[in-house]
Amino acid sequence: MKHNFGAGPCILPQEVFQEASRSVVDFNGLSILEVSHRHKDFVAVMDEATDLVKKALNVPEGYSVIFLQGGASLGFLISALNMMRETKKASYINTGTWAKKAMTEAKKVGFEVIEAASSADTNFNYIPKNFQIDSASDYLHFTSNNTIFGTQFKEMPKTSLPLVCDMSSDIFSREINVSDFDLIYAGAQKNMGPAGTTLYIVKDEILGKSTSDFMPTYLDLKTHAEKDSMFNTPPVFPVYASMLNLRNLMKTGGVRGAQERNEAKANLIYNEIDNNPLFEGTVAKEDRSNMNVTFLMKDDSRVDEFNALWQENNLVGLKGHRSVGGYRASMYNALPIESVQVLVDLMKDFSNKG
Ligand SMILES: Cc1ncc(COP(=O)(O)O)c(C=O)c1O
Repeated sequence: MKHNFGAGPCILPQEVFQEASRSVVDFNGLSILEVSHRHKDFVAVMDEATDLVKKALNVPEGYSVIFLQGGASLGFLISALNMMRETKKASYINTGTWAKKAMTEAKKVGFEVIEAASSADTNFNYIPKNFQIDSASDYLHFTSNNTIFGTQFKEMPKTSLPLVCDMSSDIFSREINVSDFDLIYAGAQKNMGPAGTTLYIVKDEILGKSTSDFMPTYLDLKTHAEKDSMFNTPPVFPVYASMLNLRNLMKTGGVRGAQERNEAKANLIYNEIDNNPLFEGTVAKEDRSNMNVTFLMKDDSRVDEFNALWQENNLVGLKGHRSVGGYRASMYNALPIESVQVLVDLMKDFSNKG
């Protein structure tokens, strides 16, 4: 058995893989890969997936749930275009890579982008706390969890502006209050399902209000809200597998259950990082992500030895992103605490041996 600490695409529950693979062979007498997206059996899948997102996150009335393609990278653009109002100014909290990419896309569609706060001064190893938000901005955008640097907003920013969030790497990992947001978007490939679909949760009030002169039909969220994500051929298989995963989430205690398990996993590994003389965390303690745990080895001379050890023990995906170095243990919903225990035991043994 492999312990998959990959940052995404990442581990999903075994039951989901099994059921999805059975449906590749036989979904309704046809493969899920060949069934028409207009067939009632697939329409039922889309409806259930939409419904499960609403149930899992307690999405209130007045919001639409949409499945699109293009990844969160297209979400950077779609969110900016759909949120454009009179001022064409937008505020962004810069917590590194993903936030910067979102800012770049907003600039491309004509926004004056204001950096409300940034943690660039220390290579994005904390979440900025005190920021000045330009009250004339059309919206405030932030990334709830930075997958690369391992930082996570423990409290969502408070603002009177419409709030937009890239929740790609921690959606469904903890309870959130959807009514605080005007728009949430997230690539599927962490806690929702396989790569290939992107989730949008959008306040209906904001639909159709963009002042952008450039609004291709596909990029207008109103198009998709009105067609229940069936304006064009949806990503049939990723939506199907996401539906199976969301069913599994609801069966295993919903988002609250996942949050409790995620907190237990995070306590286990951060405790080891803090107590093991060979390792150190890279992120300010109060901003440490429960999804992506970034840490370094203090003694460079033993790096090769440790790398060989975890690889021999069937751990996968632990190498840190090049902009941080060291290690990154991604612990999405489907990663069992037993896998985290295996890593912690290896770290302990390794340090005792040294
Ligand atoms: C927080 C965050 N935002 C955006 C992206 C980009 O997502 P995609 O590859 O779906 O475009 C990623 C990818 O890992 C991410 O972690």
